[in-house]
Amino acid sequence: SFFTSLNMERTYIMVKPDGVERGLVGEIIKRFENRGYQLLALQLLTPTKEHLEQHYADLKAKPFFPGLIQYMLSGPVVGMVWAGKDAVKTGRKMLGETNPLASAPGTIRGDYCIEVGRNICHGSDSVESAEKEIALWFPQGVADYQRNKSLTQLI
Ligand code: PPS
Repeated sequence: SFFTSLNMERTYIMVKPDGVERGLVGEIIKRFENRGYQLLALQLLTPTKEHLEQHYADLKAKPFFPGLIQYMLSGPVVGMVWAGKDAVKTGRKMLGETNPLASAPGTIRGDYCIEVGRNICHGSDSVESAEKEIALWFPQGVADYQRNKSLTQLI
């Protein structure tokens, strides 16, 4: 397809409860828009415990797992699907390191937080997990990539 022939990727980016509470949704959206990624889906929701446990299933054995789930249940989150060249890896770069203290200034975490347990945002760590996360959070499906709108950045 057009999408795969241009090495397009989709990634799931989520503003966590602290990011929503602190009014950072617009800032995060702005950075992805400015970079040239295309928004395919967006939702504000208060996830259930079961939903979060599925999302973080790989971390079930970690000591921080209960605290992570509790934090993620503390308020609504904003989930988004962003698409474009190298969206997964570049999206992670834009978020910064998992530990905000290791995040470079200029990244989202490097500019807005200091605690790993309150690190504002989530981004898929591989194309495979991105597709899994998109299916989990948007079972109703998401928009298609719009070729015409972004033609200039694709050439
Ligand atoms: S690991 O151990 O390497 O698998 O973990 P990592 O990939 O660094 O992080 C996976 C997600 O767990 C979150 N995390 C934490 N949350 C709360 N407290 C502590 N101490 C903690 N350590 C890691 C981290 O933010 C990752 O979540 P997402 O939502 O993917 O950013």
